[in-house]
Amino acid sequence: MKHQSTELPLGKTQQLPKSPKIVLLIIFTLVFLTVIPYYPLLKYPLYLLNHSSKPTSSFDSKDDLLSIPSSTEKCDLFSGEWIPNPKAPYYTNKTCWAIHEHQNCMKYGRPDSEFMKWRWKPSGCNLPIFNPAQFLELLRGKSLAFVGDSVGRNQMQSLICMLSRVEYPIDVSYTSDERFKRWKYTSYNFTMASFWTPHLVKSKEADNNGPTHTGLFSLYLDEFDEKWTTQVEEFDYLIISAAHWFFRPMVFYENDRIVGCHYCLLDNITDLTMYYGFRKAFRTAFRAINSLENYKGITFLRTYAPSHFENGLWNQGGNCVRTRPFRSNEAKLEDQNLELYMAQVEEFRKAEREGKKKGLRYRLLDTTQAMLLRPDGHPSRYGHWPHENVTLYNDCVHWCLPGPIDTWSDFLLEMLKREGVRSHEERLQFLRDRKLQGR
Ligand SMILES: *[C@@H]1O[C@H](CO)[C@@H](O)[C@H](O)[C@H]1NC(C)=O
Ligand SMILES: *[C@@H]1O[C@H](CO)[C@@H](O)[C@H](O)[C@H]1NC(C)=O
Ligand SMILES: *[C@@H]1O[C@H](CO)[C@@H](O)[C@H](O)[C@H]1NC(C)=O
Ligand SMILES: *[C@@H]1O[C@H](CO)[C@@H](O)[C@H](O)[C@H]1NC(C)=O
Ligand SMILES: *[C@@H]1O[C@H](CO)[C@@H](O)[C@H](O)[C@H]1NC(C)=O
Repeated sequence: MKHQSTELPLGKTQQLPKSPKIVLLIIFTLVFLTVIPYYPLLKYPLYLLNHSSKPTSSFDSKDDLLSIPSSTEKCDLFSGEWIPNPKAPYYTNKTCWAIHEHQNCMKYGRPDSEFMKWRWKPSGCNLPIFNPAQFLELLRGKSLAFVGDSVGRNQMQSLICMLSRVEYPIDVSYTSDERFKRWKYTSYNFTMASFWTPHLVKSKEADNNGPTHTGLFSLYLDEFDEKWTTQVEEFDYLIISAAHWFFRPMVFYENDRIVGCHYCLLDNITDLTMYYGFRKAFRTAFRAINSLENYKGITFLRTYAPSHFENGLWNQGGNCVRTRPFRSNEAKLEDQNLELYMAQVEEFRKAEREGKKKGLRYRLLDTTQAMLLRPDGHPSRYGHWPHENVTLYNDCVHWCLPGPIDTWSDFLLEMLKREGVRSHEERLQFLRDRKLQGR
């Protein structure tokens, strides 16, 4: 295993965790982040401040810090309720050009706008509304990649719109293929990219019709999709997601042999269900990440965002016409949604354990519960003109912009803010473990 001591705050000196150097480093970080305009302060636990014998003048706003209950750190961001937020939305289709056609619901005549006016309230704390300046400052000189399908792209476009109050990125894509975009925030030297990989593993469309006329895909469950796995090594953050393409008919390959399928309706092939392929796809994607020689980034699994088709499946007339969120007691994660969620979280946990051995960090951007409660946030039939012939006529999968998916940026920023402390603690632990092993 490679020694990565050079990037650890302790360096090679093997000092004790609470050495003055670390404290200085942390204070330094705090001072640095404190001067960022707009925003109170980062939520570092109080004990980190305790060691600063003489707060300098930059700590004038220390009261803000002290007023933040330290329990906030432990609060589960992802369980809570949607509460009204009259201040939303923070952009419109007139101020933001990054909204994808099919998610520009107001353009296509969606009559209601209540669905934009909610914010997520975790049970044990508050989730601050996204602060674009703070986000860009935190990610100065860094890079972030979205790896997944069109819901991943949906998230990226939402983030671009949320950031647009401060800066728009320039297009620095390596290809004209819209599925592989690169954006650069020049004032911040921050790069954002998206990699299209709806199945996360190598896949091919074997038949564009198939048993349900929605295509039949060959998935090579043990093979990397090199379109992204060869490109992400230098990124600081990866946000991985997938799900919705696994509902379609698929034939599964392992060791280059057919091992089974999902709803392929071929009588000599066993139906292993979509969960089989879904689980293995995540396993392989994480294995790819853990096997990258020089990757040192943080990997977020953005968990499954359930669709909300009612009165029929997506290709059988199902639709989503609600105009209000559910309360948490009105919807339960169950059946397919629960299976998919559990499969990806289990694979995530395994990958996290593997990654830890190399000092790699994994984080759960656990959007499932919040999005389960948002049947009102999808384009439905307002993702295109009524006469247009599109595959997903009633879209209950993607999210209107502006809309509830904007909250994913609130989550992401809050997680990045907490990352400083958490990573620090984990690195110390990693060092201690290494030290013990070295004895
Ligand atoms: C912080 O400092 C105060 C006063 O010096 C002390 O009473 C308290 O125990 C310290 N707290 C921690 C967590 O070290
Ligand atoms: C924005 O939405 C309005 C309806 O609210 C629509 O009339 C307009 O065409 C849309 N503009 C763009 C640029 O999408
Ligand atoms: C911009 O960030 C990259 C890392 O993403 C770094 O390699 C490069 O040196 C930075 N450029 C400047 C001008 O700071
Ligand atoms: C299943 O049968 C079809 C046609 O009968 C054949 O082309 C295919 O190779 C068979 N698949 C397997 C796994 O034996
Ligand atoms: C809609 O598209 C499908 C597939 O592209 C095609 O088979 C069908 O004829 C089209 N229907 C209309 C009304 O254009």
